[in-house]
Amino acid sequence: MTQDELKQAVARAAIDHVVDGEIIGVGTGSTANFFIDELGRIKHRIKGAVASSEATAARLRSHGIAVFDLNEVDSMPVYIDGADEITPHGAMIKGGGAALTREKIVASVADKFVCIADGSKLVDVLGSFPLPVEVIPMAQAVVARKLAALGGEPRLRLKDGKPLITDNGCMIIDVIGMKITDPVQLEASINNIVGVVTVGLFAMHGANVCLLGTAEGVKTLKF
Ligand code: 5RP
Repeated sequence: MTQDELKQAVARAAIDHVVDGEIIGVGTGSTANFFIDELGRIKHRIKGAVASSEATAARLRSHGIAVFDLNEVDSMPVYIDGADEITPHGAMIKGGGAALTREKIVASVADKFVCIADGSKLVDVLGSFPLPVEVIPMAQAVVARKLAALGGEPRLRLKDGKPLITDNGCMIIDVIGMKITDPVQLEASINNIVGVVTVGLFAMHGANVCLLGTAEGVKTLKF
C-alpha cells in the first residue's frame, strides 16, 4: 500500500469516532484532508466542524460542512488530526503544515484527540522530524538563540524564499537535531520562552487514541 492509501484507510476508520449530531474538531494536513473528504459523505450526521486552519475551513466548506468559530463552541466530543511523529505513549510532534497553534487550541476544547497517521509516523523517540515552534515575528532572532541553547539547530521556515507567515500572522522556526527524551518537560521549557506562541509538541495533552495505518490494516492504539 502507498502512504496515501494508508492515510486514506485511517481517515475512513476515523469516521467511527464521529459523534452524531455534534460539532467535530478537524485538523490540518494531507491525512486530515482525506478525513474531511470522508466526513463530506456523512455530513448530514453532524452539526458542523471547527477548523484548525484556513485551508481546512475552505475544504470543509467545499463539502458543504458548516464551519463554526471556536468562540461559539463550549465543548466538542472529538478532535481528529494527523501528526508528524507519535510515540507509543501518544506524545506527538505536529506543525509540519504550520497550523500547530490553532490545532492545539481546537484540540484543547475537545474531550478526545484521535490521531490518524500512517505507520511511518510511529517513533520511539521524538525529534527526527524538525520541531516546529511558532513565534512572534519581532522575537524570531531571540527565540532562535534560546532554542539553540536547548541543544537544537533553529531554522526559520521559508516559503518562496521568504519567511512563511502562519494564519496567525506569525513565523515558524523548525528545530533540527533534538532527541526529545522528555517531551513534557521540553514542551514546558519552550512554552516559557518569551516570544513563543506555541511549540509543536503535544505531550502534556497528547493523543487519546491513534489510528495507525499499516500494511496489515488499521491498528488502534489507546493511551
Ligand atoms: C499540520 C500538522 C499535520 O497534522 C502534520 O504535519 C501531518 O501532516 P500529514 O497528514 O500531511 O502527514 O500538524 O500542522
